Amino acid sequence: MRLNPAKPFLRYPSPSHPANRTRELASEGHYVFAEPLQVHFNPIMVSLTNKRILLGVTGSIAAYKSAETVRRLREAGAEVRVVMTRAATEFITALTMQAVSGHPVRQHLLDEQAESGMGHIELARWADAVLVAPASANFMAKVAQGRADDLLSTLCLASGAPLAVAPAMNRQMWDNPLTQSNVATLQKNGVRIFGPDSGTQACGETGAGRMIEPNDLVTMTAAMFETGELVGLNVLVTAGPTWEPIDPVRMITNRSSGKMGYAVATAAMEAGARVTLVSGPTALASPERVECIRVTTAREMFDAVQARVATAHVFVGAAAVADYRPAQTAVDKIKKTADTLDLVLIRNPDILASVSAHTPAPFVVGFAAETGDLERNAVAKLRAKRVDLIAANLVGQPGSGFEADDNHLILVDAAGTVELPLLSKAKAARELIHHIAVRYHAKNPAENPRLAHRQ
Ligand SMILES: Cc1cc2nc3c(=O)[nH]c(=O)nc-3n(C[C@H](O)[C@H](O)[C@H](O)COP(=O)(O)O)c2cc1C
Repeated sequence: MRLNPAKPFLRYPSPSHPANRTRELASEGHYVFAEPLQVHFNPIMVSLTNKRILLGVTGSIAAYKSAETVRRLREAGAEVRVVMTRAATEFITALTMQAVSGHPVRQHLLDEQAESGMGHIELARWADAVLVAPASANFMAKVAQGRADDLLSTLCLASGAPLAVAPAMNRQMWDNPLTQSNVATLQKNGVRIFGPDSGTQACGETGAGRMIEPNDLVTMTAAMFETGELVGLNVLVTAGPTWEPIDPVRMITNRSSGKMGYAVATAAMEAGARVTLVSGPTALASPERVECIRVTTAREMFDAVQARVATAHVFVGAAAVADYRPAQTAVDKIKKTADTLDLVLIRNPDILASVSAHTPAPFVVGFAAETGDLERNAVAKLRAKRVDLIAANLVGQPGSGFEADDNHLILVDAAGTVELPLLSKAKAARELIHHIAVRYHAKNPAENPRLAHRQ
C-alpha cells in the first residue's frame, strides 16, 4: 500500500520534525508507515507505562543506536526485553544491551537455560508489542516469507502482539524492488514500517534507508497502542476498594488492588477517550492523561460518580465497592475490653445500579468477582443490574484476580459469552475496551468516531 500523503498522520509540533519528513518521502513514492496513523497523538506526553516491548536487533550498522532506543523506551515507562540476531552481535554486544535493558539478552532459539524459564513462546506471549530496530533487509525478507530459522524471526511469527520494523540499510538496498516488494508484503500483513529516514548514510551515500532516531521510534511505538476506537467519548471508570471506617484506625475493606480498573482507564485513554477515574485507596500512581479522583468510602465514590454520570458515554465499574458499612463510626479507637463485639452493618448505595438507572444511561459495564459459578452469576448480575456488559472473573485463585498481575475474564452480555485467555491485566483491559467499543458503536452507530474519521 502506498501512503496517501493527503491522509492525516501523527501530529508533530514542527514541520521540520523528522516524522514530517516522512510525508516528503511518501510523496516521492517510498513506503513510510504501514497505514496512515489516524490518531490525535501528543508526542510531548509519550507514555509506554506498563507496556512490555520486545526489541529485536538485527545486523545493521544502525545497531549502535539500539542501546539508546532501549533507554528511551524505558524512560517512557516500558519494560524492555532484547533479542539479537547473530549478525547483530557483530555490531553491538549483548552485554551492552543487557546492561541498558536490565535483563539478559536472548540470542538463541535453542537455549536450554532459557527454555526452562521463559521459552520463546512465553517471550512471544509476554510482549505487548514487538519492535525490530534496526531491521536489516535480510530480516524483513525472512519475515515477509514467514520464515522462522532463528529466535527473532520465530518470535515474530509466534507472537500475536503488533509488530513494527524500522528498516536500516544502504539506499540501493532499500530501493531494490525485492526489498520494496518485501515491505509491501509486510504491510499487507499488518506489519508497521517505521521509516526509514533519508539523509547521509554510513556508507557515504545519500538517500532513503537511514533508521529513524530512537526518540521517534518511541513515539511511533506508543502510537501503536492508540487505537482511536473511543475518540470523542467520555469514559468514567471506578477502581480499587473502598474503606468503610469502624473507628479512626480500623475499617472494612476488601483485597482489590485497583490494578484492573487502572488498566481499563489507561486502555480507554489509549483508545482516544477522555477518561475520569474514580479510585478508592490504592498504592498505584494515577495513570497519565487520565483525570483521577481519589475517594475513600463507598458513599464518596457514589457521590463522585453521580456528579459525572450525566456526561459519561461509557461507565466501567471496576471498583470492588464494599456492600456494607458500619452503621456507626466510633469517634475514638474501640478498646479491647469485651470478649465479643457486635458490629451493625448497613447497605451502601449501589453505584452500578444507580448508573444504569440514570436517564439517559451511559453504556454500562460492571465487573463481577466471583468465587464459583462464574457465568451463571455474571448472567444474574447482568439482569439484576440492567447493565450492558459484565466482565467476570474468578477470585481466590492463584495467579488471577485480586492483587495478581494477570486476569482471566469472561465477558457476558445479551449476545452471549466471550472468554478471554489468561492475560496480563493491561492486555485484558485492552481486549475489554475493544469489546466495549464494538458493542458501544453497534448501539450508537451515529457516534462512531472511526467511521466519522474515514469520511
Ligand atoms: C559493516 C556491515 C554493515 C552492514 N549494514 C547493514 C545494514 O545497515 N542493513 C542491512 O540490511 N544489512 C547490513 N549488512 C548486512 C547484514 O549484516 C547481513 O545481511 C546479515 O546477514 C543480516 O543478518 P540478520 O538479518 O540475521 O541480522 C551489513 C554488513 C556489514 C558487514
